[in-house]
Amino acid sequence: MFLRTLSRLLLLSCLDLLAHESPGAQARKPPSAAKSLAWGPGLEANVVLPARFFYVQAVDSSGRNFTSSPGEKTFEVKIVSAVEQLTRIWIQVLDRQDGSFLVRYRMYATYTNVHIHILLKNKHVAKSPFFLKGPVYHEGCDCPQTSGSVWEADMHCPQSFPQIDRDMALFDSVDPDRNAQEIPQRFGQRQSLCHYTVKDNKVYVKTFGEHVGFRIFMDSILLSLTRKVRLPDVEFFVNLGDWPLEKRKPTEKIHPIFSWCGSNNTRDIVMPTYDLTESVLETMGRVSLDMLSVQANTGPTWPQKNATAFWRGRDSRQERLELVKLSRAHPDMIDAAFTNFFFFKHDESLYGPLVKHVSFFDFFKYKYQINIDGTVAAYRLPYLLGGDSVVLKQESSYYEHFYNELQPWEHYIPIRADLRDLLEKIQWAREHDKEVRKIALAGQQFARSHLMGDRIFCYYYKLLQEYSKLQVTEPKIRKGMELVEQPSDDLFPCSCHRKRPKDEL
Ligand SMILES: *[C@@H]1O[C@H](CO)[C@@H](O)[C@H](O)[C@H]1NC(C)=O
Ligand SMILES: *[C@@H]1O[C@H](CO)[C@@H](O)[C@H](O)[C@H]1NC(C)=O
Ligand SMILES: *[C@@H]1O[C@H](CO)[C@@H](O)[C@H](O)[C@H]1NC(C)=O
Repeated sequence: MFLRTLSRLLLLSCLDLLAHESPGAQARKPPSAAKSLAWGPGLEANVVLPARFFYVQAVDSSGRNFTSSPGEKTFEVKIVSAVEQLTRIWIQVLDRQDGSFLVRYRMYATYTNVHIHILLKNKHVAKSPFFLKGPVYHEGCDCPQTSGSVWEADMHCPQSFPQIDRDMALFDSVDPDRNAQEIPQRFGQRQSLCHYTVKDNKVYVKTFGEHVGFRIFMDSILLSLTRKVRLPDVEFFVNLGDWPLEKRKPTEKIHPIFSWCGSNNTRDIVMPTYDLTESVLETMGRVSLDMLSVQANTGPTWPQKNATAFWRGRDSRQERLELVKLSRAHPDMIDAAFTNFFFFKHDESLYGPLVKHVSFFDFFKYKYQINIDGTVAAYRLPYLLGGDSVVLKQESSYYEHFYNELQPWEHYIPIRADLRDLLEKIQWAREHDKEVRKIALAGQQFARSHLMGDRIFCYYYKLLQEYSKLQVTEPKIRKGMELVEQPSDDLFPCSCHRKRPKDEL
């Protein structure tokens, strides 16, 4: 028995060595400028995003993809124009450590045209230079594409989003006149709500309740959308609180409420969370954690990651207390600790001392990431998936806009809501490293293809469009609504060359 184990161990460590060697063996051949690949929305003029981005994959001369970094400075990216000096573009080349790079750039002005040079030792990579025939608009430019279908095609939006279809299926029709009366009556006293009307591509709002600070995220995404594409006239209510609101059964008369989090026991219409939305709008701006930066900060390679399950956070739910207790009983399996106490009484003998805040990027020193609800769904899941670890996700009735497309065992490892099987699942993961690595990569791939900024814009647009089709009375600017103005702090005004709808008549 012992010998068998020993020989298995030896075999495993040989395989391990081989696995370590293969990227090295590839790396001996240098990357080839002609064979390397470049693709992505940032190479197209009409994909206007707060931070534009594209990808570069290092490939050697025999056509083999690199699977580890060929060196952080391998590719150089220059953005120039034949017409203007493009000094107002900030470029970052992010090494994803898997042989590919993410290039992102933020433009602070609009340009006549833009040429993107991707260079490897001064040689053009793939089809570089890429010519973006302008005008190439920047995020701040108020210049909507008048045709929604043209914009969707430019953005490569999917035909449909399963969650939007599910949410819309709850309603045969929506009546803006009736909702304008009934929703404030039902929810306006106790909840914080925003009542929005978009009319002629201008945004109007009236707020209800005391805590309406979070409307800033909804205002921002609506203004950003109306700068990019002409929205249909639409009138709707946004719940600014954590918890979804509509608890009536589908057979009763339900009201359409847009929320950042949904649950199996409520019928709210879900949108990407304010956290994810803000990270899209503020990429290369106010936020440092976003779906792009996380891809370049995924910690050590898989075999080098620590096989202890990891969690940090605050005490916003009973199961989090249980998790930390479990960690204290099994420190060899779980490293979970509180960085903050707010909801419960802090009993140090049970939960240990508070620990210092850990940079989110340092989470990825660990192979197993525990995702456990807070007040509602834990809004960190997009970033956890985008990293290079595997997610152990608590089963929960709360969900974000993309959870219904995630599959347990394909994109993450499920754990029971009461965490009773957590230790067992960690043990299983330790014993099935290859399978677990596959799940980690599938989760990462899901995040890369479903949760990037362009998709988030598509989601909001599709949601408003599908919802607007259900309206049986005309959206109106109601009494007490105010215009939400476009920011006036844009230093570099643009001239919009797109035709206004009346010019098309
Ligand atoms: C190389 O990488 C690119 C980009 O990720 C991918 O599309 C392609 O299928 C890969 N090629 C091989 C041979 O794996
Ligand atoms: C792995 O992480 C645990 C918990 O953070 C720590 O106690 C342990 O020393 C780490 N192991 C290694 C090999 O670094
Ligand atoms: C919530 O509903 C989904 C989809 O119907 C289901 O897969 C999931 O198990 C439910 N979750 C809970 C905790 O009830």
